[in-house]
Amino acid sequence: MSQRITALLEKHHHSKDELVELLSVQSDQEIALILDKALQKKASAVGRKVYLRGLIELSNICSKNCYYCGIRAGNKNVERYTLSDEEVLSCADFAWKQGFGSLVIQTGEQSGQAFADHIERLLNKIHEQTNSELTITLSCGEQPEEVYRRWKQAGADRYLLRIETTNKELYYKIHPNDKNHAWENRIESLENLRKTGFQVGTGVMIGLPGQTLEDLADDLIFFRSLDIDMVGMGPYIEHAETPLFANVHELWPAPERFRKGLLMIALLRLNMSLINIAASTALETLDPLGRQKGILAGANVVMPNLTPVSNRKNYQLYNNKPNLDKDASLSTVTLNQVISSIGETICFNQPGDSKHFLKRVADNQENFSAK
Ligand code: 5AD
Ligand code: SF4
Repeated sequence: MSQRITALLEKHHHSKDELVELLSVQSDQEIALILDKALQKKASAVGRKVYLRGLIELSNICSKNCYYCGIRAGNKNVERYTLSDEEVLSCADFAWKQGFGSLVIQTGEQSGQAFADHIERLLNKIHEQTNSELTITLSCGEQPEEVYRRWKQAGADRYLLRIETTNKELYYKIHPNDKNHAWENRIESLENLRKTGFQVGTGVMIGLPGQTLEDLADDLIFFRSLDIDMVGMGPYIEHAETPLFANVHELWPAPERFRKGLLMIALLRLNMSLINIAASTALETLDPLGRQKGILAGANVVMPNLTPVSNRKNYQLYNNKPNLDKDASLSTVTLNQVISSIGETICFNQPGDSKHFLKRVADNQENFSAK
């Protein structure tokens, strides 16, 4: 059996059946074979390097009602907040001075002119204050194409919008089946983001109730077919104040969800060697060493949380989200030690663009000049 796995790992592209086969390995030895191969691939394709993105959870106000998420509009127990411009600028200043190189601004999904203006204003202010030395990623949900264009023009370079699952039937088990949560709109948004010129990131949750290994293999194939630049994905973690909590008995045990999370990262690295892959906070929630293990499975991005501590308890997407009082990794020295101890190097003061994206842009230019 291990011979079969070793043979499969020599391939650079896996079919759906092969992905299912690799995702279904159970023995520690075979899992280690896959993770080791992914680490070798990471080393040769993008280096044993880790890029930092300081995460600012700008606002927990959300118009959506995803059945899995703790800050869904329907959860009346959440105290809603929006950070002031001063608070955001102070986080940005911290990231800049610590040499993070890059920021992610994440919010619940909001719409309308005032929200578009708000994000645009913040982008301008952050760039002004940090000499445009921070690359900015937005994670602000589905928006009209012209809003994406405005934000791109105001200096956002990257956008994260998870598809959550590519199985449409499962998608509607974890979202209300209505206009506000249409799967097609999400696909259209991803296409519009690409058209607008963003480095585009997406991702899925792993171990959703009813999700199969075939679904996860389809998710990996979806990332490849979209030629995606970055992926953030992690295990699904239940939240007691959400409708999906009713299905908690159907879940794979947490250690299994964790292992599948690592395998997904490893298989993605093997199949899309140049993309950026985040070691998600959800991995860290299920295992105190989750961040390091994610990196050793092929991830090359970590997102230390910069949100003011007093707001964090109100941005709980799932139960037991770590670092509610502080992010240990915020001590850059500690983070540096942790990352060095696993043989990796943090790239301070670097944007850490997706090499996959840069290659596509260069290839397109070459094709253009050849015409
Ligand atoms: N478990 C894991 N991930 C979650 N997210 C939201 N709720 C949960 C949960 N219960 C993820 C979604 C979303 C991202 C911001 O957080 O994938 O896109
Ligand atoms: Fe809102 Fe995002 Fe949570 Fe869905 S996952 S309820 S869009 S914050």
